[in-house]
Amino acid sequence: MSDLPAAFFPPTTPTAFSRADFGADFHWGTSAAAYQTEGAWQAEGKGPSIWDEFVRRRGRIKGGATADVATDFYQRWPEDLDLMRGLHIPNFRFSVAWSRVLPQGRGAANPAGLDFYDRLVDGCLSRGIEPWVTLYHWDLPAALQRQGGWAHRDVVSWFADYAQLMARRLGDRVRHWIVLNEPLAFVGVGHLLGIHAPGRRSLAAFLAATHHAALAQAEGGRALRATLPAEAQIGTSFSGSHVQPWRPGLPRDEAAARRADAAFNRMFIEPALGLGYPVADLPVLRRLERYHRPGDDKLLPFNFDFLGVQNYTREVIGFAPYVPLVWARLVSARRRGVPITSMGWEVYPESIYHLLKKVAAYPNAPRLVVTENGAAFPDTLTADGRVPDPARQAFLRACIGQVLRARQEGVPVDGYFVWSFTDNFEWAEGYHPRFGLVHVDYATQQRIIKDSGHWYGRLLAGEEV
Ligand code: NOJ
Repeated sequence: MSDLPAAFFPPTTPTAFSRADFGADFHWGTSAAAYQTEGAWQAEGKGPSIWDEFVRRRGRIKGGATADVATDFYQRWPEDLDLMRGLHIPNFRFSVAWSRVLPQGRGAANPAGLDFYDRLVDGCLSRGIEPWVTLYHWDLPAALQRQGGWAHRDVVSWFADYAQLMARRLGDRVRHWIVLNEPLAFVGVGHLLGIHAPGRRSLAAFLAATHHAALAQAEGGRALRATLPAEAQIGTSFSGSHVQPWRPGLPRDEAAARRADAAFNRMFIEPALGLGYPVADLPVLRRLERYHRPGDDKLLPFNFDFLGVQNYTREVIGFAPYVPLVWARLVSARRRGVPITSMGWEVYPESIYHLLKKVAAYPNAPRLVVTENGAAFPDTLTADGRVPDPARQAFLRACIGQVLRARQEGVPVDGYFVWSFTDNFEWAEGYHPRFGLVHVDYATQQRIIKDSGHWYGRLLAGEEV
């Protein structure tokens, strides 16, 4: 382990810790998402999603991969849950594929799809694993995309109806709910950059989708609250990164970093907390006005029980006169010559600490849960069938230590979920980046717990790490 670079071992990380340091009520888990794992893209009445269509467009996914099979979780979930139980993982976050339960996105439900999530929830509970259900992890029903998707205002009520359907069906057994996963990612990467489904590159579509997703996150929360038992815990998840200027002290870079911070870390959290969009620091958001209807200001906030915070790296930002509207650019980790993961992301475990501190500083912030954190590194199988992955293990240890550091300083963070339990389909990057605690051989679907998975199991069993 000691031949890893110093970036894996920030000196601010508590030297030794154990599960007990986080308290008995801390929620430990792992996260996954429907499209990245389930496969079975046409099974038993499922309708196509925008991802099923997007992966079929030439050149969109590295290696021409699709998630038609993925990790075959639709069939193999019992095996995965058994492995999870063996590692003492008490919480599992997964998402519902909207078009599996509503093939057209609305209207008639697919009984076989609903049955699948019933079985999955029961399978978790019978193994002593708490299910955490994410309603939307990027796989919009293709039928709704044909009507405009996130750029169409009606998506807000389509989504609320879907939320209610799931709450009615699973609400007697599922206590923890997450409305949206990383709205900035599916709105920005899907509608402005065109790298994710639905593959649009349009400022207008991006702005419309932004406002509709912000409304949907609150409206989805209200639909769940109206339907679920009083003890249900309703949250929603945001991506975020510690943002720093490329040349600290240089006013142009400092200002660019402020704009990037507003985009990366504030755009969806602040409307949910009743603060509106951060237009003062990101003036292009004034253009959202066009999509506002009277009364929307009152519809954007929702009293979430918890906020999901997801972090992987930090971002270093420089002024860029050639990037209109934001006048900012990422200074890549490669360019800066710092250690990186298979995603090209800088290894910077302290980012999660800074992000937690930042979100907790909102006066009306509820408690926080790290609903995703992890790292992709190349894995190799040894001749005796082990997967030693010291980089992932060191990264997770440092990040978990940084979560403890934030908690010890009073940040109300009471959960941590590793992304991901198994390796899976990493969107436009295909299968190359491996984030799992469990290795998947995609040719045979064989699972092998990596050393990092065994390590996480020991942490959860109470060992000091
Ligand atoms: C965030 C997303 O929610 C998840 O789907 C993705 O695989 C991870 N980040 C890693 O990129």
